[in-house]
Amino acid sequence: MKKIILTGDRPSGKLHIGHYVGSLKRRVELQNSGEFDKIYIMIADAQALTDNFDNPEKVRANITEVALDYLACGIDPNKSTVFVQSHVAELTELTFYYMNLVTLARLERNPTVKAEIKQKNYELSLPMGFLTYPVSQTADITAFKATTVPVGEDQLPMLEQAREIVRSFNNLYGETLVEPKAVLPENKSCLRLPGTDGMAKMSKSLGNCIYLSDSADEIKRKVMSMYTDPNHLKVTDPGDTEHNPTFIYLDAFATDDHFARYLPEYQSLAEMKAHYERGGLGDMKVKKFLNAVMQETLEPIRTKREELAKDIPAIWDMLYQGSEAARAVAAQTLSEVKKSMRIDYFAERK
Ligand code: TRP
Repeated sequence: MKKIILTGDRPSGKLHIGHYVGSLKRRVELQNSGEFDKIYIMIADAQALTDNFDNPEKVRANITEVALDYLACGIDPNKSTVFVQSHVAELTELTFYYMNLVTLARLERNPTVKAEIKQKNYELSLPMGFLTYPVSQTADITAFKATTVPVGEDQLPMLEQAREIVRSFNNLYGETLVEPKAVLPENKSCLRLPGTDGMAKMSKSLGNCIYLSDSADEIKRKVMSMYTDPNHLKVTDPGDTEHNPTFIYLDAFATDDHFARYLPEYQSLAEMKAHYERGGLGDMKVKKFLNAVMQETLEPIRTKREELAKDIPAIWDMLYQGSEAARAVAAQTLSEVKKSMRIDYFAERK
């Protein structure tokens, strides 16, 4: 069986370092591993509209931002097909047939969707489109017969839902669709990077994100004002590294080479953590090191992004090429789906 990747992001904002370590970095590694027959990276504008239907301009503007973030991080349009979801109308048609294979009760149990509904205070104004987006996500994945879906931890319930729909479909109509597997980051600290304020998640509305497009000054300002261990008052106090976002970021980003370059008194993060835990290491020093690591990591991404942003029409050309190619693949799967369901009434007339 072919090894195929499909993954994507909602264009509801620029991508931040949580997206980077949680999924983007992995996608680039998988892309360059040469192990996959096909890689599809989707900008999920239709899904973004399920909670931004009143602001399509925002979604439109963020399509270019996300595309720039992708390319700046090393997604290569010659190796990966980058496309815009709404251009592939077949995805909507697949969604309509898959809807019959899911109950309302099942959709209401999805923990990620549940948390989002709560956070957005929808109550009785919950749009149907929003509740059903996991079904449309199943269409995204299955249309490309994806075997592998590199995503952040919050997407696991979507993958579970997709596998259930695939099994129901194949049982009812015959073996047609492929069951996908999620790929999560191996480094536990990368699963969910906390906000700079110590909140569990980076979110635009909380203003606690470091964006891939942030300037050197913005990065420094954000790192130097990060939340740390509130009980670590004096340098000599023993400190906590486990729930301390500065150390969680170091876990996600710092390498032994960074120590050799910027803080040679420690050989590794383990040594630095031990010092902080027994007392005698100040937050200022930790933040200065973290800043050096973040600057070094983000500088090449930002520079490449600024270069690419000079030619936005080229970005739309790339997206158009990718979207046309994606559409052809999804159309093929849709015709197989209709054949299996025996609703391909006019197939022989074509
Ligand atoms: N739900 C994903 C997000 O919030 C975006 C997405 C849409 C996606 N369809 C997908 C991710 C299919 C992986 C596979 O960013």
